[in-house]
Amino acid sequence: MPTTLTVNGETRSLDLPSDMPLLWALRDGLNLTGTKYGCGVAACGACTVHVDGVAQRSCQIALADVEGAAITTIEGLGTRDALHAVQAAWIAGQVAQCGYCQSGQIMQAASLLSENPAPTDAEIDEAMSGNLCRCGTYPRIRAAIHDAARRLQEV
Ligand code: FES
Ligand code: FES
Repeated sequence: MPTTLTVNGETRSLDLPSDMPLLWALRDGLNLTGTKYGCGVAACGACTVHVDGVAQRSCQIALADVEGAAITTIEGLGTRDALHAVQAAWIAGQVAQCGYCQSGQIMQAASLLSENPAPTDAEIDEAMSGNLCRCGTYPRIRAAIHDAARRLQEV
């Protein structure tokens, strides 16, 4: 039986195995390739998406477990004309290097700011600790999260 869920605001019915990881369904079933495969074992954060507004590792969630849920991927966080504050701060701060980890970082950061609009350095480090960056962009990530927090307070 197909799994029905909302992805980036659109209702989608996916005729895929119910035990398929959400990450596979997004990338191979819906061609939403902004969400990355890094480790497959919840150890890197590259696959982070929002499930009902909360950051989750999509490599560890079976399709059956998100029946009826609202999924947001990096493609749906903002638009080219109306970037999410985190995306705008990322660009302003030139955070990305190779970029592979960055959609996961941005989704994790957006989830953090929705729960804590003015996180301290320590709170940022704790919330982001599961999102690894082989390029070592952590100082710029932290600065961009502070910038995004300021942008959100101005809205
Ligand atoms: S691919 Fe999901 S946490 Fe690494
Ligand atoms: S920017 Fe290269 S892994 Fe993070």
